[in-house]
Amino acid sequence: MSEAELSVIIPTYNEHDNVRPIIAKLEAALTGIAWEAIFVDDDSPDGTAREVKEVSKDKPNIKVLHRIGRRGLSSACIEGMHLSTAAYMAVIDGDMQHDETRLPLMLERMKNGADIVVGTRYAGEGGTGDWGAARLGMSKFATCLGNFLLRKNRTSDPMSGFFMLSRELFDEVAGKLASDGFKILLDILASSKRKLKVQEVAYTFRTREFGESKLTLSVLGDFAMLLIDKSIGRFIPAKFVMFAVVGCIGLLLHLCILGILNLVFRVEFVYAQIVATLVAIICNFYFNNIFTFGDTALKGFKRVVGFVLFLLICGVGAIPNVMLAKYLYSGHIYWMGAGAAGLVVTAIWNYAVSSRFVWRK
Ligand code: GDD
Ligand code: MN
Repeated sequence: MSEAELSVIIPTYNEHDNVRPIIAKLEAALTGIAWEAIFVDDDSPDGTAREVKEVSKDKPNIKVLHRIGRRGLSSACIEGMHLSTAAYMAVIDGDMQHDETRLPLMLERMKNGADIVVGTRYAGEGGTGDWGAARLGMSKFATCLGNFLLRKNRTSDPMSGFFMLSRELFDEVAGKLASDGFKILLDILASSKRKLKVQEVAYTFRTREFGESKLTLSVLGDFAMLLIDKSIGRFIPAKFVMFAVVGCIGLLLHLCILGILNLVFRVEFVYAQIVATLVAIICNFYFNNIFTFGDTALKGFKRVVGFVLFLLICGVGAIPNVMLAKYLYSGHIYWMGAGAAGLVVTAIWNYAVSSRFVWRK
């Protein structure tokens, strides 16, 4: 079974309708190659994992790692690679947006000595298909920043989710990869100490036929997360840093609204404070949903439930805040220090509890 020389790792979340078509496409593209597909599914509600198991009954080279209680594109890819024993591993999206017909060429480049071959949209005949100006702009911006971060191992498309690498390279970097977020390729390139032999194969990003994207809104946030992780992430969890940044923005917004309502519109202080608090919490929830917890972002009705929960958590978190601040203040700690200490305690509480219950993996 594990005589496969190429493992194709396919992270999936709600890709039920894409399972059979992508397997058919891989079979057509990889004739003559000893390959296996490893789907890594995060217990998709639409039954993606069940569908793969169904297909794998008569196809021993199709496997699925069914993760329960977990979410995340990068960690899915990493765990899929850990399951593989093949000499070469490719990562490809499960929605057919990547061009699987490029895989044989990528494999050939690997055999000719490359450490990693990147499927690129930004070189040669590559393209981004039907992307709008906003997404293209964001992607290009992230590409520039990404290459700034990389220095040694640059590529025209460090944000690509389509690439192939050798087992040696994976073994070298596996322990250093951040499992949060989506930017697995950038992470691999940044985590190797060596100057790698990076090669590229151009492809055009296809339009999605079934299901919907999980990333669009959070591309930027995801990227910011990786930057934080690669800089101060060693000391403080990147998500907490992002959560605190969002909290600071919320605080500024709060003060602006409070000031405008109270001073300009002469709204009574208590009412102005209530409105400002609510707006700040909504803003915090909204930005945390996109940036801090972009990989497990809530959508539709779940977002409403999540918001109510967040509101409750923040409400409870305000109690130790006020108590601690009051205690310190009565112990003659300067008002600003007492207030800030209360805020820090609340921030930790809000982060710990909401990452566990609102945006759980
Ligand atoms: N297991 C798992 N867990 N899979 C996931 C998760 C998750 O939390 N989130 C997304 N996926 C799977 C999807 O099911 C799909 O097969 C693949 O990862 C890519 O997700 P999409 O939601 O389709 O991403 P996209 O098309 O918007 O983004 C593409 O372009 C980005 C760069 O602009 C992808 O190729 C990204 O990898 C790439 O970084
Ligand atoms: Mn996609």
